[in-house]
Amino acid sequence: LHIAIFASHTGTNMQAIIDACRRGDLNGKVCAVISNNSNSQALEKARIAGVSEYHLSNKTYPEEDELDEAICKVLTESGADIVALAGYMKKLGPKVLKQYRGRILNIHPSLLPKYGGKGMYGTYVHEAVIGAGEKTTGVTIHLVEEEYDTGKIIRQCEIEVLGGDTIDTLSKRVLEREHAFYVETLKLISEGVIKL
Ligand code: GRF
Repeated sequence: LHIAIFASHTGTNMQAIIDACRRGDLNGKVCAVISNNSNSQALEKARIAGVSEYHLSNKTYPEEDELDEAICKVLTESGADIVALAGYMKKLGPKVLKQYRGRILNIHPSLLPKYGGKGMYGTYVHEAVIGAGEKTTGVTIHLVEEEYDTGKIIRQCEIEVLGGDTIDTLSKRVLEREHAFYVETLKLISEGVIKL
């Protein structure tokens, strides 16, 4: 399974996937890492890991459709079978969505459809979960459609919200779970157990 990963910031999920492929826990290869942020740690981590990395953004391609086209080209040339978004903070263009429809995954740190949509990212999700007094939160892996956090849900796992949880403790616990959960899900896809 050739996996292309899109990440805008820290890239810890990306790293977990790269490591799992290296260890042989996941029968796959990260064939490209794409970021819209030239300063992202994700690009730096990919470089260190020796994975082909690309900064593709409105800085490198001011026209939206040229950017979309350039992304498609990298995906095709790297032989990507599947696209995994991991903290990618930009919407994909129509060409990528068409070329990879049904094969683009995203990970979200809540039990969608709860706490998804515009503005619900990063610590805002956990702040809202704690603010609402939820006893349970979780992680969702879903297919990507035009709108944020709306595509078909592939897999979810629940995580307990503890009494003393702060945004910080909860987000750390959820993120750690994400790493294992993304790897497990990609493994199930590579084994044909989950069919996209
Ligand atoms: C994760 O919490 C993911 O669910 C969300 O963005 C965060 C990315 O973290 N979409 P990282 O860049 O993988 O560390």
